[in-house]
Amino acid sequence: MSNWHVNLLTLFPDMFPGSLGQSLSGRALEKDLWSYSCVDIRDFGTGTHKNVDDTPFGGGAGMVMRADIIEAALLSIPKPQQGRIIYMSPRGKPLTQDLVQELSTQQTLTILCGRYEGVDQRGLDAHEIEEISIGDYVLSGGEPAAMILMDACIRLLDGVMGNNATPDDESFSNGLLEYPHYTRPADWTDNAGTRHTIPDILTSGHHKNIKEWRLKQSESLTQQRRPDLWECYQKSKK
Ligand code: ADE
Repeated sequence: MSNWHVNLLTLFPDMFPGSLGQSLSGRALEKDLWSYSCVDIRDFGTGTHKNVDDTPFGGGAGMVMRADIIEAALLSIPKPQQGRIIYMSPRGKPLTQDLVQELSTQQTLTILCGRYEGVDQRGLDAHEIEEISIGDYVLSGGEPAAMILMDACIRLLDGVMGNNATPDDESFSNGLLEYPHYTRPADWTDNAGTRHTIPDILTSGHHKNIKEWRLKQSESLTQQRRPDLWECYQKSKK
């Protein structure tokens, strides 16, 4: 069984494991299928106030995390135990299911969670730190972004999902959004008195037809909601 390890560089170590201590990832953590350790960046701060940031050269609002402090925090982890070094940032390359898959097969990751307006670019450049974004919006810090990246990786680790191994037809695994799901009762009336049945095909027992129906559903959902994915899918089919 794997033990996937993440070193977290953060000013808020108490945020972890947070939601990762619950449910599927929480049970996997108890079973040692993954582990994490936090480096408190504050421990490497300077002066009586343990400062980790300073005002930006060139002016402007906010504070910038110092390169020397980031480096000192990073170097507190022995090089062979660092693995790929990632900085969670809205400027980074987008986190996709393919990237999640790739990161989940690494033995170790080190994730820098920034606060304030950002980090001194030289700290990132000096240590070949990869920037990864979880989407086109700005969070107040990298910690929730790191948790999202980790959650997506953890569910793919050996032994985490048991027999429910990731289905090939879940969203993104085939370049499409997932088809809709239904369960009992087959005939349900909502609170406003509207009756909702399920598509007949799902109770037909014709597995081939069901598979085709699901693919059609996936295709039309993707076309409607995600023209970007739809274009890639059509290209890949040619
Ligand atoms: N930190 C702040 N916003 C972020 C985002 N969208 N992705 C990754 N890290 C972030």
